Amino acid sequence: MRILFTGGSGKAGKHVVPYLLARGHRVVNADLVALDVEGVDNLIVDITDSGQVFNALTSYANFDELEPGTGVPKFDAIVHFAAIPRIMIKPDNETYRINTMSTYNVLEAAVKLGIKKVIFASSETTYGVCFADGERKPDYIPLDEEHPVIPEDSYAMSKVVNEVTAKSFHQRSGFDIYGIRINNVIEPHEYAQNFPDYCANPDQRRRNFFAYIDTRDLGQMVDLMLHKDGLGFQIFNCANEGHSVDLTTDQIIERYYQGVPQAAKMGEDETFFSIKKAKDMLGFAPQYDWRKQL
Ligand SMILES: NC(=O)c1ccc[n+]([C@@H]2O[C@H](COP(=O)([O-])OP(=O)(O)OC[C@H]3O[C@@H](n4cnc5c(N)ncnc54)[C@H](O)[C@@H]3O)[C@@H](O)[C@H]2O)c1
Repeated sequence: MRILFTGGSGKAGKHVVPYLLARGHRVVNADLVALDVEGVDNLIVDITDSGQVFNALTSYANFDELEPGTGVPKFDAIVHFAAIPRIMIKPDNETYRINTMSTYNVLEAAVKLGIKKVIFASSETTYGVCFADGERKPDYIPLDEEHPVIPEDSYAMSKVVNEVTAKSFHQRSGFDIYGIRINNVIEPHEYAQNFPDYCANPDQRRRNFFAYIDTRDLGQMVDLMLHKDGLGFQIFNCANEGHSVDLTTDQIIERYYQGVPQAAKMGEDETFFSIKKAKDMLGFAPQYDWRKQL
């Protein structure tokens, strides 16, 4: 597929883009900075500017596309990852503005240009636990996509708004628009760097529901979504199978989730960030268990 990928130069994108290239997709990375990876086409785009988004979506990817003499090829899909990826990087209002306007621009352009598949990065933070002031527990465990999303911070608010915007553009167009509530992204080098500390101090994983997502497994999720048509508007949690700490499910519940209703029976090392929907509807099968990566 010919894909416009926003934010491909970032922490997640710089792994997901090569994953998609390796599966034969053509990828144009629309970002404020280029990605130095063999085979990707880069276009410097500020996606908070609607004109730039429309223009990028109607441009040649590279010189080879001039050769057939048949005009600019159409994009088959957009994968939208560009964002300010948490609070405390920019002032809160800027995080909110950049994330909501860029997503509006991408979705509007996709719908008006007839690009019928959009995959966008939402976040685990929508559930409100991650950036809460003080400790906030989930309403129930494991958290599925039906859990309420009433966060307290500008970043997670922007992601909730983006999901509503996406649902509205789906309503107008009928196009497939899939959001990924991505858990804490882990790059391959971060296993050795971080996981011994996560095991020694599991408290620091509480705000992520003790979950994580490997960048390559995130690539698998995006690729599955590109190939799966006809689901309409959907939101999927995305995490690896197990906990990111060396504790069992029961031990974590005992320490951190006392009094939290348990909505489903859980396995001994089963993520609290339920990926059942992605497994059932997309065939998602994460490969990278942290214990094997260390
Ligand atoms: N990293 C995580 O743990 C995590 C968890 C959940 C969700 N997410 C979401 O996943 C996506 C990717 O996150 P990441 O960690 O790779 O973030 P990142 O900050 O590393 O990468 C984001 C990329 O977007 C680009 N960008 C920012 N503003 C832009 C603009 N106006 N125009 C064009 N490009 C712009 C940046 O240059 C950067 O390359 C984001 O939407 C983020 O909110 C990340």
